[in-house]
Amino acid sequence: APVELDERYDDSFNIGAAVEPYQLKGKSAQVLKKHYNSIVAENVMKPINIQPEEGKFNFEEADKIVKFAEENDMDLRFHTLIWHSQVPDWFFLDKEGKPMVDETDPEKREENKQLLLERVRTHVKTVVTRYKDVVDSWDVVNEAVADVASPETDGLRDSTWYQLTGTDYIKVAFETAREYGGEDANLYINDYNTEVSQKRENLYNLVKGLLAEGVPIDGVGHQAHVQIGWPSIDDIRTSFEMFSSLGLDNQVTELDVSLYGWPPSGKYNTYEEIVNSEENILEAQADRYDQLFNLYEELDADISSVTFWGIADNHTWLDDRATQYSDDGLGKDAPFVFDPNYKLKPAYWAIID
Ligand code: G3I
Repeated sequence: APVELDERYDDSFNIGAAVEPYQLKGKSAQVLKKHYNSIVAENVMKPINIQPEEGKFNFEEADKIVKFAEENDMDLRFHTLIWHSQVPDWFFLDKEGKPMVDETDPEKREENKQLLLERVRTHVKTVVTRYKDVVDSWDVVNEAVADVASPETDGLRDSTWYQLTGTDYIKVAFETAREYGGEDANLYINDYNTEVSQKRENLYNLVKGLLAEGVPIDGVGHQAHVQIGWPSIDDIRTSFEMFSSLGLDNQVTELDVSLYGWPPSGKYNTYEEIVNSEENILEAQADRYDQLFNLYEELDADISSVTFWGIADNHTWLDDRATQYSDDGLGKDAPFVFDPNYKLKPAYWAIID
């Protein structure tokens, strides 16, 4: 039987990993090349890194990831053109340097809105033009949807983008990406908790409405920051099926299976403690991975790629989260199928077999 992850799932979908440029050499690079056929930048392609000052584009770090993908014949996901987080402040300052949200005069508000949309156009145009031949899937807009029922914002996240433009920032981002990326560009709207009924509904209504207006969306990115016991497989299945029914592709874009519930207790402080845990937590995690990949395979016609939000348990944003919420300011998580030394975990065998 094949032992490489990407080979194992070759008939079904791509297997990807999120990376920082420092991981493109040494052991992490070896594992990347062996097991994955797609990569995405964990941070360096976000607006704050790409255009820290207006008109000053910085592609140095991003290019390292592009080069690695090209040299190793891997697919590339782009994360992310537009997001409410990790976006530099200048986007939302008017020509006098005043926060646009403070403007009360309707005429000036309209001017600000047009200026902001122009900035969206410039950012998207510049990035898409540069990378259109190497990027396979674009996260055009990330996390635009509200977590709860919110009739006052039509189910949308009440971000500065939304406050200043309504849904126009989303439309302009997708239209510009299509204009400069061409018909072959695969354009995704990406979000977390897409399995949770209210949020799923919010996202569905948004996408359906945008498609009806002719906004060029090709698919939905499901971040999939999940836990061992949450969300249910039925909820995950429903989510994929809802978006497929709109004729859209699905991608799993940021998969990790945390050992914790919510909020994370951070009760394990080292990987050693995790391995030796009385409750055999790594076996429980393996069962969860088994269920997830069984579902992905069952629905493989609707899913074109499955990307982990990291490579191995030595580098994960979930460590920061476990630390942040724990009582003692310590905490280790271990969400992937490779351990901190790139050894194969029970979860690896669960998705290979
Ligand atoms: O680069 C600076 C460094 O110069 C500084 O010394 C250090 C001090 O804190 O911070 C570094 O920046 C950090 C950056 O990651 C790079 O390591 C930021 O503080 C930190 O907030 C940032 O976290 C990233 C987070 O997005 C930001 O919201 C995580 O690495 C990244 O995994 C995470 O990814 C997001 C996806 O983009 C969207 N979906 C959710 C996912 C997890 O939060």
